[in-house]
Amino acid sequence: MADLSTSYMGLKLKSPIIVGSSGLTNSVSDIKEHEQNGAGAVVLKSIFEEEISMEYEDMIKNVHPTHMEHFDYFDYKIKEDNIKKYLKLITDLKKNVSLPIIASVNCVYSHEWAFFSKKLEEAGADALELNMFFLPTDFSRNTAQTEKAYFDLIEKVRAEIKIPIALKISPYFSNLGPMIQRLSETGIKSLVLFNRFFCPDFDIDKMEVTSGHVLSTSEDVAQSLRWIAIMSGRVNCDLASSTGVHDGKAAIKQILAGAKAVQVVSALYRNGSSFLRDMNKEIETWMNNKNFQKIEDFRGKLSQSKSENPAKYERVQFMRYFAERA
Ligand SMILES: Cc1cc2nc3c(=O)[nH]c(=O)nc-3n(C[C@H](O)[C@H](O)[C@H](O)COP(=O)(O)O)c2cc1C
Repeated sequence: MADLSTSYMGLKLKSPIIVGSSGLTNSVSDIKEHEQNGAGAVVLKSIFEEEISMEYEDMIKNVHPTHMEHFDYFDYKIKEDNIKKYLKLITDLKKNVSLPIIASVNCVYSHEWAFFSKKLEEAGADALELNMFFLPTDFSRNTAQTEKAYFDLIEKVRAEIKIPIALKISPYFSNLGPMIQRLSETGIKSLVLFNRFFCPDFDIDKMEVTSGHVLSTSEDVAQSLRWIAIMSGRVNCDLASSTGVHDGKAAIKQILAGAKAVQVVSALYRNGSSFLRDMNKEIETWMNNKNFQKIEDFRGKLSQSKSENPAKYERVQFMRYFAERA
């Protein structure tokens, strides 16, 4: 009988399927349901770096009265409450569920909020995922300065906490492979490949900017699959996949590529929490058919470093595809 239990960042998981950071991981009742349906862990909805800074930097006191119109007091109140609610959510979860709870902070440039990670640890978070990305539209910054922000942040947060740290990144680096490798050498315990962003779209009738598709499709899995496969065995931390995992098969592929855990969001928005059961069942049935008893029996078997044809993972042009149709 297949055993789905595994370890991720040193945490014990009953399944490699993690419910990723989203509105699905924002309440005790939802997370309880995910646990009952077989989630291995959850990453809480992110708290924003700006929210933390706003409370702790006591901005209201420092704002000159003539500049008050730039400051939305009600916004401040809501954000302050968010911080308290977030810490309470963690303490409540620790009383009500037993699956690992991974807190999450949405980081932009600064690391001034890093001391706050201690509060998340004290509240009982089992790990912390840093979701770091800023669109490189600051034309006064060069690549080295942009990349340095990642290393500075990791160093500051590592100095504050002992719980394992994961870094969730985007694929938008100028030198992705070496950057992933360098990040993995910083003492973090996992890299999550990759985040998916809110993207603008245009309504051409109203001539307005609107929001693009919020949820991923199953085809979106390709990018993280390639990079998990390429980086597996070449990094000094665990790898978790995120984006486009819409069924058990896609999760199996990510584990074959080398992922230690697989994060899922859009598929659960579409199909509900009980879909976790279907995904686990699909993995279990496949493992039984293939005579794999443990996740480690097949993890990384299709990674590039174990491949007899490593060039396949790096093929980027459609030359043959078009040649065959000519
Ligand atoms: C409604 C929604 C809210 C999200 N909120 C967060 C968030 O707060 N922090 C974060 O790191 N990722 C957030 N994400 C991104 C997801 O964690 C995930 O990386 C992304 O949806 C790709 O995975 P998927 O293809 O399984 O949906 C959100 C995604 C959705 C759809």
